Amino acid sequence: MSNPTDQTLAAVYGKMELSEEEFYALTDRSLAPRPSGMLADKLAGLGIGAHHHLLDVGCRDADHTIALAQRFGCTALGVDPVAQRIAQAQAAIAAAGLGDRMQAVVGYIEAIPAADASVDFIWCRDMLNHVPELAAGLAECHRVLRLGGKMLVYQTFSTELMEANEAAFIYETMGIVAKNQSAAFFESTARSVGFAIAERDAVASEWREFWEEDGSRKTSGQLLRIARMRRNRAALIPLLTETHYNIEIADCLWGVYQMIGKLCPTVYVLTR
Ligand SMILES: C[S@@+](CC[C@H](N)C(=O)[O-])C[C@H]1O[C@@H](n2cnc3c(N)ncnc32)[C@H](O)[C@@H]1O
Repeated sequence: MSNPTDQTLAAVYGKMELSEEEFYALTDRSLAPRPSGMLADKLAGLGIGAHHHLLDVGCRDADHTIALAQRFGCTALGVDPVAQRIAQAQAAIAAAGLGDRMQAVVGYIEAIPAADASVDFIWCRDMLNHVPELAAGLAECHRVLRLGGKMLVYQTFSTELMEANEAAFIYETMGIVAKNQSAAFFESTARSVGFAIAERDAVASEWREFWEEDGSRKTSGQLLRIARMRRNRAALIPLLTETHYNIEIADCLWGVYQMIGKLCPTVYVLTR
């Protein structure tokens, strides 16, 4: 630990080249961040249409799968290991009147219930960090995708700004496989099972900035929730259980870490 020099003190407390107003005018303006809808737009740009079959791995309650099937008129299969969510997905598919061209089934990326080369596009949003054997999961995606098919991956990686103790808490609490948090590991694994990486697009904090600016899903609200939950821990734990208290804190931190660059959401287009 070094003592501050006069030069450091002068830099910190002396005058900047710019006035405060000039500085805020430069920094407190929107950089036109892209919204999360960019992901479906990217799928549109890859050429998906009504004659195609889409697989959504880790579909949860199929809200995205349904929206994609409605927008593109394609057939679709959603797969997720959580039976409760698949029951919700099936009810939502029926309610949307899509039962004739959509299905949601319990399953894992490591054993996809689909025939070889039967899928035109794969939508893989925010789920690969839970997969213990990434190579096995991506190899299955490669198997079910037809030659010339494309896989759109949205995945959040940890950056060099993430501290070891911060990582340990969120990985342990949220069921995240530590090695999958590396972009280099993801890319080498994808190539090792036969995929080519056609595009890599670092979304970074853009979705978070967009939601903050339009007020729909504020990360600043998550920051405030963390502060309140920490101050009120003793009262909340008996109500929530320690497990769910930690999951809620970790979920808020996930958003804050995306905003401040400790986590970097990234979109890939993989081709077979
Ligand atoms: C963060 S959620 C994302 C859900 C959805 N794709 C979305 O973007 O809203 C992660 C999902 O991955 C699912 N998941 C976890 N491990 C999986 C596996 N081995 N195979 C398929 N899905 C898995 C979870 O059950 C959960 O629904």
